[in-house]
Amino acid sequence: MKVWNFNNELKQLFVDYHYASINDPIYTSTQAYKHLERIPKPIAGDVRFSLDYSLDQDNLFENALMTRHSWPYKFPNNVTIDVDFLSKFCQLAFIGNDKTGRTYPSGGAQYYVNIYLLLNESKVCEKLVKHNVYQLDMDSQQIVGLNFTKWEEIQEAYIPKASVETAQMAIALSVNLHHVSEKYTDISYKLIQQEAGHIGQNIQLVSNYMNLKSLPLGGFYDLKLSEIIGNNEAVLYTFLLG
Ligand SMILES: Cc1cc2nc3c(=O)[nH]c(=O)nc-3n(C[C@H](O)[C@H](O)[C@H](O)COP(=O)(O)O)c2cc1C
Repeated sequence: MKVWNFNNELKQLFVDYHYASINDPIYTSTQAYKHLERIPKPIAGDVRFSLDYSLDQDNLFENALMTRHSWPYKFPNNVTIDVDFLSKFCQLAFIGNDKTGRTYPSGGAQYYVNIYLLLNESKVCEKLVKHNVYQLDMDSQQIVGLNFTKWEEIQEAYIPKASVETAQMAIALSVNLHHVSEKYTDISYKLIQQEAGHIGQNIQLVSNYMNLKSLPLGGFYDLKLSEIIGNNEAVLYTFLLG
């Protein structure tokens, strides 16, 4: 069995593995994945219990879970995105006010995954768009403007065009691949994907709770999105919202 050797300084295998699975416009024609219907695979076994449960309509938590969906359509833009909206969204989905840790778990509480908000300047409160690419600073509980990139250019990083054209904002989850293996060395790549999954679930549930539609995406051009957020980071996962 071949394992990743983190004794060597470069961790090159790990970085190569990541970049071998990116989307890029020059590969798009070969990256056309044909539709594959999921065929349920029965599980054999005689000890079975049926899991009957009906949603408690009055419970907001149950509602947020049970009505969670991805939105691969034009976004309805039913909410006003301003500082108050983003404050509530970020506190619930990520920060958790002054609780110990955050509202999502992270291997060894290292919190390697960074969170960026990309705002569509024509669909959010104008006070927010002197800059429209923000990084979330969890420690100061602020969003920090990094640059202004026209939504027209941000759209180039996204493959589902009808979605990105109508989105009010995007969220990108990214890491510096050269710094994530300090604690967990060989298993670090797996851990950052797991952390991103937790954050993604929070994004969808909090969006749903706050009447915002969301679309999780593997369909983005990695290098273009990384260039927009800067900081020499690789984007792991992104969401469109509106
Ligand atoms: C990792 C991941 C990547 C996804 N990428 C895309 C995508 O590129 N385009 C898209 O339209 N939907 C994407 N989706 C959404 C799925 O199509 C959706 O979750 C699935 O159809 C189930 O629907 P539901 O989320 O509404 O239950 C992605 C979901 C996940 C978890």
